[in-house]
Amino acid sequence: MITARTKSPDDTRELAGAMAGLARAGDVVLLAGELGAGKTVFAQGFGRALGIEEPITSPSFTLVRIYPGRVRLVHADVYRLDHLQEVVDLALPELVDEGAVAVVEWGDVAAPALPADYLEVRLEWSEAEDERRVSVGAVGPAWSARQGALAAALGRWGRDAGP
Ligand SMILES: Nc1ncnc2c1ncn2[C@@H]1O[C@H](COP(=O)(O)OP(=O)(O)OP(=O)(O)O)[C@@H](O)[C@H]1O
Ligand SMILES: [Mg+2]
Repeated sequence: MITARTKSPDDTRELAGAMAGLARAGDVVLLAGELGAGKTVFAQGFGRALGIEEPITSPSFTLVRIYPGRVRLVHADVYRLDHLQEVVDLALPELVDEGAVAVVEWGDVAAPALPADYLEVRLEWSEAEDERRVSVGAVGPAWSARQGALAAALGRWGRDAGP
């Protein structure tokens, strides 16, 4: 588990961008955290770093949005789904197999319906209003192999780093 801390929405976008630099087609990133924790903000920074120029907005009502970039981004929000079968029906593994990276808000809820090979990013409130704790953990081989690279990429946001 890698832990980090961000100081503003833009800081979270930058952290997400640093992680996107390690992402490749077929990857799944599950975002966990309460309402307003910063999951969509994270997805924005992640997508920007994949070369997506279009504004990335909350997919709450559409469930899944697909953006063309250096790697295609599948941005999903499963908050409104009542049954895990509905997550299965979104066919996220099939979408990433076709050359995309999936970023899924409320992904921890969806995890039981998805293959056990993803990166979980959890955003939580911290002491200050604009601060968030970010914990990053690999589940399965795809991201476990990049654990060291991830830790290096996130070093700047290490809990004890900087003023
Ligand atoms: N360090 C930070 N990182 C991210 N967002 C922050 C931070 N500090 C403050 N914020 C604010 O918190 C809010 C995060 O909203 P966002 O829509 O990303 O949350 P969310 O987790 O996607 O919520 P939802 O579950 O409703 O989709 C924004 O208003 C953002 O400006
Ligand atoms: Mg959101």
